[in-house]
Amino acid sequence: MKKRVAVLISGRGSNMAALIEAAKSADYPAEIALVVSNRADAAGLAHAGEQGITTALIDHREFGDDREAFERALDDTLRAHRIELVCLAGFMRILTPWFVGRWSGRLLNIHPALLPQFKGLDTHRRAIEAGAKRHGATVHFVVTELDAGPIIAQEAIDVRNDDTEAALAERVLELEHRLYPRALRAVAEGRAKLGGGRPDDD
Ligand code: GRF
Repeated sequence: MKKRVAVLISGRGSNMAALIEAAKSADYPAEIALVVSNRADAAGLAHAGEQGITTALIDHREFGDDREAFERALDDTLRAHRIELVCLAGFMRILTPWFVGRWSGRLLNIHPALLPQFKGLDTHRRAIEAGAKRHGATVHFVVTELDAGPIIAQEAIDVRNDDTEAALAERVLELEHRLYPRALRAVAEGRAKLGGGRPDDD
């Protein structure tokens, strides 16, 4: 049985699109059963709809400052669709310990840097400013501390001497589109587990 996956987005959704594409393969162990956005104007929502994927909009602004009320609505939607794994893909909301605990071991995120380096925002600019020779992306399990969960898969590229933030971002994004499907496969097949030691080197 394929694992039922929800992808959470806030914007462009190119990683979401890569996951949808990968999940079209008959032998892929997961299906993208739902795409949820917290923003109506997320470009990824329209793309998911065109691909025939069920979409949901849960606008965080309707819940004011009550983060947990927003997350309860999100959790209810995920459960209503019998979701087993959740992939954050450019989802720009920090999740509370309540939500993270509820989905522990079943919640993945992609971060555009070689964690534990460059947690947080503006990773490509910071990598260039630091003179990093290698940079890349990481898929990890989400824990309450931001960008700190156990690493599932990571891939690096060289930083060129003349790299600009935009050029580097473009090459990392290309890499992300290979990495996320590979990491989700490892989790869906049970090869990568939270607290299960180091995942297979794939
Ligand atoms: C990606 O760089 C991802 O690593 C980061 O946010 C960006 C989302 O891009 N978390 P997209 O919406 O998947 O195109």
